[in-house]
Amino acid sequence: SLCPSIHYRPINPNDLDRLEQIHRDIFPIKYESEFFQSVVNGVDIVSWAAVDRSRPDDHSDELIGFVTAKFVLAKDSEIDDLIHYDSSKGEETLIYILTFGVVETYRNRGIAMSLISEVIKYASGLSVCRGVYLHVIAHNNAAICLYKRLMFRCVRRLHGFYLINRHHFDAFLFVYFINGS
Ligand code: ACO
Repeated sequence: SLCPSIHYRPINPNDLDRLEQIHRDIFPIKYESEFFQSVVNGVDIVSWAAVDRSRPDDHSDELIGFVTAKFVLAKDSEIDDLIHYDSSKGEETLIYILTFGVVETYRNRGIAMSLISEVIKYASGLSVCRGVYLHVIAHNNAAICLYKRLMFRCVRRLHGFYLINRHHFDAFLFVYFINGS
């Protein structure tokens, strides 16, 4: 639309079909239906949807972008060696971003930036949360630029991390440290 009005909200069960469709459209990896069920029902998963309220009624609440994430115990994570532990604060956690994307027609308007900022803001408000981390395929320049702009740090290159159509691809591991990590 000419004057988009982008809002951010949690993903809910009404988003199921659209969420599955966007994942199919923009990711080379297949996700199981249990994954989508956990996302829309908020089972062990936190999520944010971007919607454009300026669209006609039947589309005004339809996903145009999303980010899904889960909690991981810092000590059980693959970056446990990078975390500064403070036992007085209880069990340290991290937020791991699972999937994240914006539909093509809404790209380059800062929506992805806002979605990841929502995750960082949420994580920063939790005293036990030490950071936000994710994997990204090594040739995804758009996403890599975005993480760098948001002050994520690239801490590892994982050789052959992704297996797509019988080909292996490297991944980068990016971390945004919070609360003194
Ligand atoms: N080339 C280079 N840098 C880019 C590009 C691009 N095509 N697109 C975005 N960026 C970077 C820039 O630094 C940009 O800031 P700037 O415009 O001020 O320079 C910054 O990202 C923010 O751009 P946004 O407008 O917020 O990004 P957008 O809403 O267009 O979405 C996204 C970016 C999510 C990567 C989108 O291209 C997409 O959905 N791609 C397909 C799915 C995907 O790759 N998801 C991430 C996978 S990793 C994971 O899921 C954990």
